[in-house]
Amino acid sequence: MTEQDIDMQRIPRHVAIIMDGNGRWATGRGLPRTAGHQAGVETVKRITEEAARLGLDYLTLYAFSTENWRRPDDEVSALMALVLSSLQDDLFMRNNIRFRTIGDIDKLPEAVRKRLRQCESETAANDRMTLVVALSYSSRWEMTEAARRIAREVAEGKLAPDSISEDTITAHLNTAFMPDPELLIRTGGELRLSNYLLWQCAYTELYFTPVYWPDFSVDDFHRAIASYQGRQRRFGKTEEQAARDNRP
Ligand code: IPE
Ligand code: IPE
Ligand code: MG
Repeated sequence: MTEQDIDMQRIPRHVAIIMDGNGRWATGRGLPRTAGHQAGVETVKRITEEAARLGLDYLTLYAFSTENWRRPDDEVSALMALVLSSLQDDLFMRNNIRFRTIGDIDKLPEAVRKRLRQCESETAANDRMTLVVALSYSSRWEMTEAARRIAREVAEGKLAPDSISEDTITAHLNTAFMPDPELLIRTGGELRLSNYLLWQCAYTELYFTPVYWPDFSVDDFHRAIASYQGRQRRFGKTEEQAARDNRP
C-alpha cells in the first residue's frame, strides 16, 4: 500500500482512532504492559504527522476511557506519566498542529491537567490540523453532561424544550467544534466501540484491524483510508441516488 493507492482529492476531514492492543503487544514480547503504552506513543507521533501531511483537518485519538480508571493503579499512574512526558515534545509546533482534549479532564492529576491546558493555549493559533486526544472520556459521560447543560438552560428559561433539535445536542457535546468523523479505525482486533463517539459515529465508516497499535504503520493507515475511499456512503438513500449525489 503506497500513497498512489489513496485518492488525495478525497481525504477524509476527520478520522477517529481507538488505539488498542498496547498491552497485548507488550505481553507477547515478555514485556510489562506499560512498555506497550510507551511504544504506542511513537505510533501516535507517526500517525499524527502523516495525518497532517495527508491534509486531514481533525484526528481524534482515544487515549484513556472513563472505564480505564478501573485498571490497576500502577498502570493508570504509568499512563498519566506517559501523557505528561509525551507532551514535552515539540511535535505540534514543528507541524503547525493545534492540540485539543475532550473528556472529563478535571479527573486527571493536577500536573497533567496543567500541561494539557498549556499545550492547548500554546498551539491555539496552529491551523494545519487539529489533534484531539480523548482522555478520561466516554460517550455516555459526554452525553450525560450535555443533557445536564441543556436542562440547565431550559430551567433558566434560555431554551424552549420544543426547540431542542439534533443540532442542539451536537452543540452541547465536547466535540461541538468539529465535524463528525467520516472514518473510525480500531486497532488491536476487538470489534466494538468501547463507549467512543457514539453520537458522532452515527454514520461513520468503521475499519477494524488486528494490528496492535504499537505496530500500526503509515501503510496500515493508508490501507484504512483506501478502504474508506472504496465504499459508497448512502445515508439511507438508494445506491443510484447516492451515486448521483456524489457526482462532481
Ligand atoms: C490501549 O491498549 C491503550 C489504553 C486503553 C490506555 P490496551 O492497554 O487496552 O491494550 P490491550 O487491549 O490490553 O492489548
Ligand atoms: C478502549 O480500549 C479505550 C482506549 C483505547 C483508550 P480498551 O482496551 O479499554 O477497551 P475494552 O475495555 O477492551 O473494550
Ligand atoms: Mg485494550
